[in-house]
Amino acid sequence: MKIVVTGATGLLGNATAKHLIAKGHDVVPVDRRDGEVAPGVKVIVGDLSSLEFCDSVMVGAEAVIHLAAIPNPTDKRQHEVFSNNVVSSFAVFSAAAHAGVRIVAYASSLSAYGFPYSESWTSPKYVPVDEDHPLEYEESYALSKEVNELSAQMWFSRTGISFVGMRFPWTNLPDKTYELAARSKNEDTLPPDPRFPKGIVAKVLWCYLDLRDAAAALEAVVMSDFKGSDTFNFAAPDTMSDEPTVDLMKKFHPKSEIRGDLSANAAPYSSERFIKRFGYKPQYLLDRAELKKL
Ligand SMILES: NC(=O)c1ccc[n+]([C@@H]2O[C@H](COP(=O)([O-])OP(=O)(O)OC[C@H]3O[C@@H](n4cnc5c(N)ncnc54)[C@H](O)[C@@H]3O)[C@@H](O)[C@H]2O)c1
Repeated sequence: MKIVVTGATGLLGNATAKHLIAKGHDVVPVDRRDGEVAPGVKVIVGDLSSLEFCDSVMVGAEAVIHLAAIPNPTDKRQHEVFSNNVVSSFAVFSAAAHAGVRIVAYASSLSAYGFPYSESWTSPKYVPVDEDHPLEYEESYALSKEVNELSAQMWFSRTGISFVGMRFPWTNLPDKTYELAARSKNEDTLPPDPRFPKGIVAKVLWCYLDLRDAAAALEAVVMSDFKGSDTFNFAAPDTMSDEPTVDLMKKFHPKSEIRGDLSANAAPYSSERFIKRFGYKPQYLLDRAELKKL
């Protein structure tokens, strides 16, 4: 299948483009940063905020996997993250619709619920958090994700092409996730690291996803017969902590109502809707014995 992959020089986009090429797809990798996704497969460089650039890369594509974005609220004034992420997504969706692409899978984020990047300490109303949980954020990264979900809905209503938004957690290769897990266990004794603000692991509710599962899930979406516009949580079924999830919730989020099964190290986000609809569940889970040793 001919698939445009945006953000192809970035973490998720590069892994996804490589995965799709290995599976025999015809990948069109796009990013504003130069790079290569496989020998001889060079990234097409341009800014996706330009509708003309988006139109130029869509020709003949059957699907789009849209992963280009600024992936956290780094801009203190909130403007760059919002304008880049919202305008580029709108342009990608518009160009995909104009080109008659069948389906667009795009990265939303579990940050849309608001807990990870809010400056004040916020907690879920209930856990496991499912897609009915309200989005209650106070920064522009999460806002950009909700606006993109609404843009997708609008382009579906306008043109009938399908959109699937993936609300991902912290997504990386296992070594980086072990590093984050180790830091969260010892953060009172370690020197500060700007990459990992204090408390971030409790704010992401200890959830993670392996990059390889993100890529495989995105492939499952574009290969499916899904019709409509919808968003789905998609995280590993367990946490990156060796403490029981109920104990963690009581310690860090005591006001959250525990509604579902959180036994042992179950993740406080539910990915059940995705698994039921698309039939793919995370395969690359952390080694729980390794987590105990950190
Ligand atoms: N990695 C995670 O933990 C995580 C978690 C949840 C959601 N996400 C989402 O997944 C997507 C990919 O994230 P990532 O971690 O790979 O980020 P990344 O920063 O590694 O990659 C993003 C890529 O997008 C490109 N880009 C940004 N704006 C662009 C524009 N206007 N035109 C062209 N290219 C542009 C960047 O150059 C970069 O290569 C993002 O939407 C992010 O919000 C990531």
